[in-house]
Amino acid sequence: MDCHSDEGLTREAAGDVSLSRMSDQLFLDNDKFHLSVHHLNEISCVDCHSDIEELNYDNEIPHKAHLEPVNCTACHEAEGEAFSQSVHMEIRGKGITMQCYACHGYHYVKRLASASVAERENLFCLKCHNADNYHDWLPQKQAHFAFVECTVCHAPTVPSHIHLNFYDLVTNKFFNGNQIIEALGIGFDEFLPLIDTNKDNIINTNEFEDLLLILRQKNIYTEVHAELVVELEPILHNVIKGGSTNECEKCHSADSPLFDAVAIVLTLEDGSAEHYEVEKDVLNSFSMSSFSALGGTRVKFLDKIGLLVILGGICGAGGHLFIRLVTAPLRRRNKENEQDS
Ligand code: HEC
Ligand code: HEC
Ligand code: HEC
Ligand code: HEC
Ligand code: HEC
Ligand code: HEC
Repeated sequence: MDCHSDEGLTREAAGDVSLSRMSDQLFLDNDKFHLSVHHLNEISCVDCHSDIEELNYDNEIPHKAHLEPVNCTACHEAEGEAFSQSVHMEIRGKGITMQCYACHGYHYVKRLASASVAERENLFCLKCHNADNYHDWLPQKQAHFAFVECTVCHAPTVPSHIHLNFYDLVTNKFFNGNQIIEALGIGFDEFLPLIDTNKDNIINTNEFEDLLLILRQKNIYTEVHAELVVELEPILHNVIKGGSTNECEKCHSADSPLFDAVAIVLTLEDGSAEHYEVEKDVLNSFSMSSFSALGGTRVKFLDKIGLLVILGGICGAGGHLFIRLVTAPLRRRNKENEQDS
């Protein structure tokens, strides 16, 4: 950083006038680098730029101006393997090489777990694809793109789960984890004990409604936003052609496995997130009225109303019969009285 914190440093200034492979700017924003997942995990410059092992400052500076390309898969082998089977690797046949950093960038890579669906799509797929040009079979395209991450459909073997985020109705932004925790006046490790009153390590509908009530008392006016996102597993890189589904029932049915895993997500500043498991039934609760993907269970609710109507009908008819039976002697007596008179 003695050299690379200099904003004016270019390859030419470093004594190299040959055609440069990449940018000529050799500046690195140290503050941003310090927040990257790699720096936080003690990966240093020469772990990536591995053709420099050690620099002798007396006679090796400046080092050669063009280093070998960085090999991300040296450390991320499983991602490389999944990627090598994907449609984005196939395009090498057309003379296009897509590097890992076409999507991730390199010096300022952050953890991804806390990103919303919109952030994930804008950071990645939407940089190159206009999803509006496809998917004419899909009604409410924008609703789907807002709630379902592209890779849930396009890397069909990756597991996924539902994120529940707290959306701030006042600022129109998501609350981050710290804001929620601060409002509750507790620490992150006290969150589950506070909410999970029956101590079974999973938040049920009642506990969930109670949480929203507590938040409202703390002046947090929130709408709970549910998003379908992929698990952060290497296999998500296996974007394949023609593997995605257009079967509505895969998602819109009561027993869809896609909605089995539900979690409240509290996001942290480094891009990671704390997950707290929530019972699937919460998706049908009153506070989730904006979420209608679970068509199947909705119908179950309607079924209950239907059942009530039928029960009501039976009770009505039964009641009528019962009253007629009970009053039969009375009516008979009335008739006899009439005849007598
Ligand atoms: C996670 C891996 C990684 C780490 C850590 C890393 N780099 Fe890089 N760096 C890259 C990649 C990838 C490129 C661009 C493409 C290539 O050279 O392969 C690059 C390019 C550069 C460039 C060329 C200018 C540019 O921005 O494209 C400079 C200068 C540079 N790195 C300096 C550093 C310094 C100094 C550090 C330590 C503070 C560092 N790098 C840490 C991966 C890394
Ligand atoms: C086409 C875009 C794209 C390319 C190219 C790409 N990734 Fe990813 N990567 C993603 C997406 C999308 C995620 C998941 C992030 C999310 O959903 O927020 C991800 C997640 C990750 C993760 C975290 C999840 C895990 O596997 O632990 C790592 C690490 C990663 N990528 C490394 C790589 C490496 C190494 C390469 C090159 C072989 C690469 N990526 C190429 C899009 C890409
Ligand atoms: C010298 C080893 C090394 C190299 C080379 C390397 N990484 Fe990493 N990378 C790591 C480590 C260690 C982590 C933190 C892993 C963890 O804790 O899950 C990480 C984390 C990541 C993550 C964050 C995953 C998450 O949890 O969200 C992404 C994305 C990523 N790397 C992409 C890249 C890309 C792109 C390159 C190439 C420019 C690269 N890495 C090169 C070691 C490396
Ligand atoms: C850096 C640019 C870039 C990014 C980012 C990117 N793609 Fe691609 N993608 C391409 C290119 C180029 C092709 C090949 C198009 C072709 O063959 O005509 C392609 C092909 C595809 C195809 C097959 C389409 C076809 O016509 O064969 C799918 C599906 C796809 N990408 C999905 C995604 C998803 C999902 C993401 C986000 C995780 C993503 N892409 C991110 C550039 C990108
Ligand atoms: C509900 C599932 C679903 C979601 C969400 C989804 N897609 Fe698709 N996508 C499909 C299916 C199925 C096809 C193939 C049918 C077609 O061409 O319309 C397709 C086609 C495509 C194609 C053209 C591939 C080809 O073979 O021609 C691209 C590119 C693409 N999607 C990118 C995206 C991006 C980017 C996103 C996120 C913004 C996204 N998709 C979200 C299911 C989905
Ligand atoms: C990958 C899972 C998935 C697939 C496949 C899928 N959907 Fe959806 N759909 C969702 C999610 C998640 C939402 C957003 C949740 C919400 O708004 O309630 C949604 C929303 C909708 C909405 C809008 C509801 C609203 O209230 O705005 C309609 C209509 C819809 N889907 C119909 C379909 C049809 C028809 C198909 C098949 C052609 C289909 N979906 C395929 C997951 C999916």
